[in-house]
Amino acid sequence: MRIGVFDSGFGGLTVLRALMDRLPSADYIYLGDTARLPYGAKSQQTVARYAVSSAKFLVEEQKADYLVIACNTASALALDAIRESVSVPVLGVIETGANAAKDATESGDVLVIATAATVESHAYAEACRERGMRAVEKACPLLVPLVEEGWIDHPVTDEVLRIYLSELLADAAGRPDTLVLGCTHYPLLRTKIEEAVPETIRVIDSAEATATQVADALCLPAEFCREDGKPHERRFFATDSVKKFQTLGSRFLGAPMDKVELLDLGG
Ligand code: DGL
Repeated sequence: MRIGVFDSGFGGLTVLRALMDRLPSADYIYLGDTARLPYGAKSQQTVARYAVSSAKFLVEEQKADYLVIACNTASALALDAIRESVSVPVLGVIETGANAAKDATESGDVLVIATAATVESHAYAEACRERGMRAVEKACPLLVPLVEEGWIDHPVTDEVLRIYLSELLADAAGRPDTLVLGCTHYPLLRTKIEEAVPETIRVIDSAEATATQVADALCLPAEFCREDGKPHERRFFATDSVKKFQTLGSRFLGAPMDKVELLDLGG
């Protein structure tokens, strides 16, 4: 089993990390489209064009049997286009995040923070509505550059988070008890976010939920779910500086990255 994992950059490595924990004996090919990041500030047409070319690379050239779109913006804006362009099953993180919110919430009132493009698409609101929940969404465009800068423990990030989250809570209706991290960069700020919201609000990172749903969808034999001691492929591709990808990526993956290959997908 060869699983292709795609994100606009590094954030999807948090999903890859959860997948490797859950299904250690699969092969993984990861593509971070760092040259064209951020997707979260771009139009639907552009995100779809970028995401389709990335998905095709993973399926047609790298022979992935299954594709995980570990990017909320691409999942929100381009999932249908990706599914139409490749011949393998494709899972997006909006559905897995909404499923995880459904499991967590008691009140049905859910908060979502995400990129501007994801929020404008209302993909989370729609996915929550389909599952009987009500979602209030908030775009937090400054968080991706702050994480990329490595400003995790930084007073500027604390202040930006405080402003975004207090605005979100002021807009919230009903009795919100769940906050979905609707962007793959945000899990790195999870502790800060948990500190900034009332204790009654549970913070959901869809990485683990995604790994569980991939395992369920694939119905893999038990040996894929444990280390079998054999070497398994882990290949990393980035469309911009491999050095930056290695440095920043290991922060997201939680482990050193030995080798990253440079890929040119054009503009
Ligand atoms: N990967 C994107 C997401 O999860 C965040 C970074 C970007 O804007 O490209 O929405």
